[in-house]
Amino acid sequence: MSHAAGCVLPDEAATEALGAALAHALASGAVVYLHGGLGAGKTTFARGVLRGLGHRGAVKSPTYTLVEPYPVDGRALYHFDLYRLGDPEELEFVGIRDYARADAILLIEWPGRGAGHLPAPDLEIRLDERTDGGRDARWNACNPRGDEIVTRWVLDPAVRDCEPLL
Ligand SMILES: Nc1ncnc2c1ncn2[C@@H]1O[C@H](COP(=O)(O)OP(=O)(O)OP(=O)(O)O)[C@@H](O)[C@H]1O
Ligand SMILES: [Mg+2]
Repeated sequence: MSHAAGCVLPDEAATEALGAALAHALASGAVVYLHGGLGAGKTTFARGVLRGLGHRGAVKSPTYTLVEPYPVDGRALYHFDLYRLGDPEELEFVGIRDYARADAILLIEWPGRGAGHLPAPDLEIRLDERTDGGRDARWNACNPRGDEIVTRWVLDPAVRDCEPLL
C-alpha cells in the first residue's frame, strides 16, 4: 500500500505508453485490476502492456469471450473483461484457477464483477475521463510484489515525465 499515486494521460498514446512501461517493470507474474467506467481506457492500457511485452498482433477487447490468452515473451498473459459476466461463479468454469499461476500476468477489466472468485491483486489501476478529454490514471500497490513492480514502473520515463496527480 505504500504507493498510491497517479498521473495525467493527455491522449491514447500516453495510456499505451503507461501500459508499455508497466510491461517493462514486470519481473515475472502479476495480477493487475483495471478499474474505470465504460470507455475509460482499460483496453488501451492492456494493449500497451501487450505491446511492451513484444506482442505485435491485434488486441481485441474480450468483452464477449471474457478472457483472451496471449503467449508473450515466454510467459502467459490473460486479458479479462468481466463486464458481461452474469455471476462471479462462472469464473470457475472458465478455469480462473488455472490462469492464476505465479508467473502468469493477469490484466482484469471490471474486476468488481468477479468479486470473490478472482485472485487478489498485486496492483490496482484506475482510469477516469477528464473534462479536457484526457484521462487520469491512479494506482495502488497491494502487496510486496506490487510494491516492487511500482518501484520499477515509476522510474520509467513514461511515468516519471508525466504530469502528476496531486
Ligand atoms: N488518455 C486518453 N485520452 C483520450 N482518449 C483516450 C485515452 N486513453 C484511451 N482513450 C480512448 O478511449 C476510448 C475507449 O478506450 P478503451 O476501449 O480502452 O476503454 P475501456 O476502459 O476498455 O472501455 P470498456 O469498459 O468499454 O471495455 C478509445 O477510443 C481510446 O482511444
Ligand atoms: Mg475494455
